[in-house]
Amino acid sequence: MQIDIITCQPELLVSPFSHSILKRAQDKGLVQIQLHDLRKFGINSYGQIDDYAYGGGAGMVMRCEPLDVLLNQITKNKTDFLVVYMTPDGQTLNQKLSNQLSLRKHIVIICGHYKGIDQRIRDKWVDLEISIGDYVLTGGELAAAVTIDSMLRLIPGVISDETSALTDSFQDDLLAPPVYTRPPVFDGREVPEILLSGHEKKIEEWRFNQSIERTKHRRPDLYVKWTLGE
Ligand code: 6GU
Repeated sequence: MQIDIITCQPELLVSPFSHSILKRAQDKGLVQIQLHDLRKFGINSYGQIDDYAYGGGAGMVMRCEPLDVLLNQITKNKTDFLVVYMTPDGQTLNQKLSNQLSLRKHIVIICGHYKGIDQRIRDKWVDLEISIGDYVLTGGELAAAVTIDSMLRLIPGVISDETSALTDSFQDDLLAPPVYTRPPVFDGREVPEILLSGHEKKIEEWRFNQSIERTKHRRPDLYVKWTLGE
């Protein structure tokens, strides 16, 4: 998978992709992530990329030209790409959307700032608009990092044990069950006996029931969805 990220703050995204699992995914050649500094495409020597909003009001708007030049450059001679704009008024990210994104070959992500980007760039270029929740961030970079993390871990080979992505919370509308590791007794608290039994089938059953109970109590909305889908 190829991911191109358009941002006026590339520094914000260096760290998330330079460590641990996401770094290894790149080292293994499973994904290529390229950061593009929008300021290099500013309309003047100051690297200006924003301007006042037509019609007035507080807050700047990201201009068309720098984005258009960069998008043309990134997608030149390419046909199979998806342009995603990170914005609080986009579609809320969930596991289903992450699954769908993880199957794409080439994703171009635009990180917005200020009051957002000129509507004409959205109309001309953007295929999908994503928000990561009902709250406002100072820019789209952290939201892009969250979105990329959630989709990359679904690509086979990115996390060591593929089955562990399949048993995540949300993968089938249920939350994950509680987990335990050694020691068997900590501060007087014991690990549930069934997990020490070695009885695979019963353990699976216990985990499934714990998932259901957890979902019922913590996320009644998800629980209803799960009962309808079951
Ligand atoms: Cl994608 N961008 C910004 N600026 N704020 C957000 C968001 C995105 N998703 C939730 N809040």
